[in-house]
Amino acid sequence: MADNNTFYVTTPIYYPSGRLHIGNSYTTIACDALARYKRSEGYDVFFLTGTDEHGLKIEEKAEKLNMTPQKYVDKMAAQIKQLWKTLDITNDKFIRTTDEDHEKAVQKIFQKLLDQGDIYLGEYEGWYSVSDEEYFTESQLAEVYKDDQGNVTGGKAPSGHEVQKVHEESYFFKMSKYADWLVNYYKEHPDFIQPESRMNEMINNFIKPGLEDLAVSRTSFKWGVPVKSDPKHVVYVWIDALSNYITALGYGGDDESLFNKFWPADVQMVGKEIVRFHTIYWPIVLHALGLPMPKHIIGHGWLTMKDGKMSKSKGNVIYPETLSDKYGLDAVRYYLLRAVPFGNDGVFTPEEFVDRINYDLANDLGNLLNRTVSMINKYEDGIIPDYKSEVTPADKGLENIANSVVAEYKEKMNSAHFSDALSVIWKLVSQTNKYIDQTTPWILAKQQNEGDAEQLSAVMAHLAASLRLIALLISPIMTNAPKKIFTQLGLDDQDLDLTDPKLSDLGTGHKVVAKGTPIFPRLDKEEEVAFIKGQMTKSDKKKGRAVKEEAKQKAQAKLDADKPLEANDKKEIRFDAFEKVELKVAQVKAVAKVEGADKLLKFTLDAGKEEDTQILSGIAKWYPDYDKLIGKKVVIVSNLKPRKMRGELSQGMLLSVEHKDGNVELITVGNQFENGSTLE
Ligand code: ME8
Ligand code: MG
Repeated sequence: MADNNTFYVTTPIYYPSGRLHIGNSYTTIACDALARYKRSEGYDVFFLTGTDEHGLKIEEKAEKLNMTPQKYVDKMAAQIKQLWKTLDITNDKFIRTTDEDHEKAVQKIFQKLLDQGDIYLGEYEGWYSVSDEEYFTESQLAEVYKDDQGNVTGGKAPSGHEVQKVHEESYFFKMSKYADWLVNYYKEHPDFIQPESRMNEMINNFIKPGLEDLAVSRTSFKWGVPVKSDPKHVVYVWIDALSNYITALGYGGDDESLFNKFWPADVQMVGKEIVRFHTIYWPIVLHALGLPMPKHIIGHGWLTMKDGKMSKSKGNVIYPETLSDKYGLDAVRYYLLRAVPFGNDGVFTPEEFVDRINYDLANDLGNLLNRTVSMINKYEDGIIPDYKSEVTPADKGLENIANSVVAEYKEKMNSAHFSDALSVIWKLVSQTNKYIDQTTPWILAKQQNEGDAEQLSAVMAHLAASLRLIALLISPIMTNAPKKIFTQLGLDDQDLDLTDPKLSDLGTGHKVVAKGTPIFPRLDKEEEVAFIKGQMTKSDKKKGRAVKEEAKQKAQAKLDADKPLEANDKKEIRFDAFEKVELKVAQVKAVAKVEGADKLLKFTLDAGKEEDTQILSGIAKWYPDYDKLIGKKVVIVSNLKPRKMRGELSQGMLLSVEHKDGNVELITVGNQFENGSTLE
């Protein structure tokens, strides 16, 4: 079986029933970071991810789209593979449960379990939720509907999805037979389930009340692996899906060499909602097959939104490509692994995302690199001095911290505590920033005392060494920044070796540093938060509300700041009067001066209608470069009675704000708001 130098890590295989969001990306990036880390420690790593393509949900989804299930999953799998490329995921294999090898192996596994009596034919009766792909007993339902006689006619799953009654012949796996073995296994391997608290959850909630036998086949849909000896049955998702972790290595196929090399898995990472399948059913199936157990099953928490779980219907989903296109992949990978503490949920907020980029990346790390490179240019002719230990009084402190950071970091990475690993790295980042203040290189540069020049060189070498070490430590998590840091320091071709990294590895004899652009540009928080919010898929109605809220807030903020209260002499109006005003988003297509009217600009706007909308506005004075307004999105009052001014038709009004100094500025909104959407 697997020797000590191999490392096998797996993600769940995702349902390709919709576009993957930052939640799924979280697990995959976490496993990628672990895979990269173990490679840097010298392990022979196999990293698996893939797609779980069978089942009723996929069958129905494809039907809705008028596609065959195969065509549909082909398209989705290609899209998901592309996503992992975009996110720099270094998986060694992408398994699809529709792969022929996998299907054949699943049939073999099923047959073996049937032949040895672990699987038997019975009758399934219960409630099924298509959306959850899960069966429920009546007592598990969150809500039941009853007829006059009190018979249960339907209900809702704990997720809130409707369930339907099903009654069908089914094969069952005798889980109950292995319950004692499993509890014993947990006891003898207390680190099998992580975090440990989930182990007690499994014992108390599922095993102690009595493990029910698991239905492992279905006759009610076709899109699955047929049971060889009884093909009207297809293997029900979990046996099919869980087996991927061994079939991907060739188990049950012609060539089992990868399986022999890498099984048992070292880490199988899953979200907390499927810990049950991975720590109860999966070990039992493996045990029944006579195979060794994976070493660790890690159940991580969810990345949620302020209003709870991400879901398309809530309109709070955010996609990783949207963020990485705009802010770079490193920012996304950093944020995700920082935001979800081990075992707990993390909440995504656009504000925190932007803050982390600005504070942790741009400020703490980016500035440290900038300052260091500038100083080496200024004080050392651009060449990093040779590294010597303990020259200045502050050196010992930095050296000690670097050593303890590396040790702690390794422990955190090895136990998949990525958020902690990152905060450990940032201890070194902030200590290095402090080190500059402690050593005051700008004073040493004046060379007032004997030895100042030597101390200055030692400081520059320590700064470079620390940045080099930081770049190495972040390399499993951020895939671009390390290269940029090495390049700016003139340290090309660094091996990403994390076996025993030290400050003193900086060594001697360096090339000239090359100052580049900041590796993490600072973001305008207000602007970027608005952008990200606009990207969360919302219904048009909600989008309209968001623009209106934004415009209202902007206008109000200006009012509050600029005008004394008495100046605001508008009489109160009734709500129904306000309700009649129609505000819309419109985009400027053209702007021109109006002949004979100095103050007026004539706007041609796309307000989402077939014809353009023309509005005259008396703001020429403030927009001498009015051409620059082309393409901007503005807010208009769209149901003002049209009127003629200077012989030109004006079909509404542009909203603007008057600043305290009397300057007037049009209210503009982000590009995410469609032309013609209504503010309400
Ligand atoms: O359950 N936060 O697939 P799935 C963190 N096919 N992780 C999240 C997340 C979030 N908001 N949303 C999803 C299935 N995930 C089965 C698995 S395995 C043999 C079969 C991640 O597409 C997390 O890892 O519903 C979760 O367990 C997984 O995606 C669920 O993916
Ligand atoms: Mg799921």
